Amino acid sequence: MYLRRVLLGGSAAAVLAAVAIGKNGDDCTVTAPAACRRWDRNWDRREPMSLINLSKISNETGEEELNSQLDKYKVKATRHIFLIRHSQYNLNGKSDEERVLTSLGREQADLTGKRLASLGLKYTQIVHSSMTRARETTDIISRYLPGVKKSSSDLLREGAPIRPDPPVSHWKPDVEYYEDGPRIEAAFRNYIHRADPKQEEDSYEIIICHANVIRYIVCRALQLPPDAWLRMSINNASITYLVVRPNGNVSLRMLGDSGFMPPEKLSRT
Ligand SMILES: *[C@@H]1O[C@H](CO)[C@@H](O)[C@H](O)[C@H]1NC(C)=O
Ligand SMILES: *[C@@H]1O[C@H](CO)[C@@H](O)[C@H](O)[C@H]1NC(C)=O
Ligand SMILES: *[C@@H]1O[C@H](CO)[C@@H](O)[C@H](O)[C@H]1NC(C)=O
Ligand SMILES: *[C@@H]1O[C@H](CO)[C@@H](O)[C@H](O)[C@H]1NC(C)=O
Repeated sequence: MYLRRVLLGGSAAAVLAAVAIGKNGDDCTVTAPAACRRWDRNWDRREPMSLINLSKISNETGEEELNSQLDKYKVKATRHIFLIRHSQYNLNGKSDEERVLTSLGREQADLTGKRLASLGLKYTQIVHSSMTRARETTDIISRYLPGVKKSSSDLLREGAPIRPDPPVSHWKPDVEYYEDGPRIEAAFRNYIHRADPKQEEDSYEIIICHANVIRYIVCRALQLPPDAWLRMSINNASITYLVVRPNGNVSLRMLGDSGFMPPEKLSRT
């Protein structure tokens, strides 16, 4: 009763009033941020209409021509994308080559490989970062997925995607974000998009890389502010799962799942 009276009394009303007039930098009211950012359906620039030069369509046969072109660009398949963080590694290594997996890290990768295999999906490919810890994680996981082709990518290497908000305690100079940011954005653009129109069947793809890269990709794929990446935390060797539908809808089905690991196999900081 007392609480109720206080809420109805003054303080809660004052708080609500403050929230209602509060604005963020984009002129969005704090109470209704969703109204500020609509879903961009052409986020990956693969919306069929955007692939056509409309002034090339003749005005006489227009509709038919347009429909046949749209048909050509119609996406049929869904992409299931599994983003795996590398497992625990030796933080004392001076160079990338010395930053190899710890024995716990090797066990974690083993559990993740078993987990992926046990899902029984028809995996189409594995792409991994070229850094040692990602490569080693891939080697272990791929033992459980024989026949799935692997390729290495420098775009997926760890880095500083964008200055996080709120800021971190370990400050970095702008040059780090300036160099890494566009490269990690390129990784996002290269690997995360709706399926190619030529793809006939749904695909199950595995990308083995790093925590910052994965968190940035999640923000970008969901069209959330990219500088929010550091507000999330994901475990070593965990599974993050994105689905990209033919119409470009994206959903996050898992974020940093490691619930399949016994508690003693999780790294503790
Ligand atoms: C689109 O097609 C028209 C007509 O053929 C052409 O003049 C124009 O340059 C094209 N636009 C682009 C961006 O290529
Ligand atoms: C069709 O008509 C529009 C507007 O009149 C014109 O801009 C466009 O160039 C025409 N397209 C072709 C292929 O003639
Ligand atoms: C993952 O392992 C690294 C060491 O390789 C450690 O620094 C980090 O805290 C671990 N993170 C989590 C979330 O377990
Ligand atoms: C996906 O996008 C379409 C519009 O293309 C929308 O009508 C539909 O409700 C969306 N579905 C989900 C599950 O978000």
